[in-house]
Amino acid sequence: MLTLDLPTQANILGFLALFSYIVTLLPTILRIVFPRTKETGIPQWLLKQRRLTGILAFFFALAHAYLLVIKRNIDFFDLKTFLIYVQGVGTFTIFTLLAITSNDWSVKKLKKNWKQLHKLTYFAMFLLTWHIWDKMSGHWTYLTPVGIVAICGITIVFLIRFWMERQSKQKRSKEKASKEQLPAKVQ
Ligand code: HEM
Repeated sequence: MLTLDLPTQANILGFLALFSYIVTLLPTILRIVFPRTKETGIPQWLLKQRRLTGILAFFFALAHAYLLVIKRNIDFFDLKTFLIYVQGVGTFTIFTLLAITSNDWSVKKLKKNWKQLHKLTYFAMFLLTWHIWDKMSGHWTYLTPVGIVAICGITIVFLIRFWMERQSKQKRSKEKASKEQLPAKVQ
């Protein structure tokens, strides 16, 4: 039978980092996949708070990783150990890059590259699913099923958003192509 452990402080901090991270993904996903939510004003409000939520996610992740590195005496300079924690380190590196460039100065300096850099947030989604599944395997806490459902749920909705965006892009380029052909037919 599956028994669930009580979460430690480090687990709670990891969960809070996950929760804040998911909140940063919501505005765009809601706008595209659930456009009617715009009427509630929630996506717009979440968008306004996005910078703050992202920075919060970074600090929760920092505290989570710090406690676990101390508790387990993790040495990242040992390649074998590094590979064991590679998903966590990968996600944390992405969170760090995003947190330090979440300001107007970076947006201005990086121009087009800023958007490209911030697309890394979607890669973190896949790394995190792997991280939680791998690290919690065999000793789930009360938070683990909630975390797994949340990260898998947001990943599925993200993939739907991706598919919807591709569909509308294809539709627009088909419309453009048929408009361009029209004058030729008239002649
Ligand atoms: C260097 C970076 C990281 C390290 C070394 C690390 C390490 C770990 C370890 C060892 C566990 C298992 C804890 C246990 O056995 O009770 C864990 C769980 C977890 N980590 Fe990380 N982690 C890192 C980064 C992150 C980041 C960036 C997030 C962001 C959301 C995160 C979220 C979580 C979550 C949600 C859990 C599961 C907690 C639960 O279900 O109770 N971790 N981490």
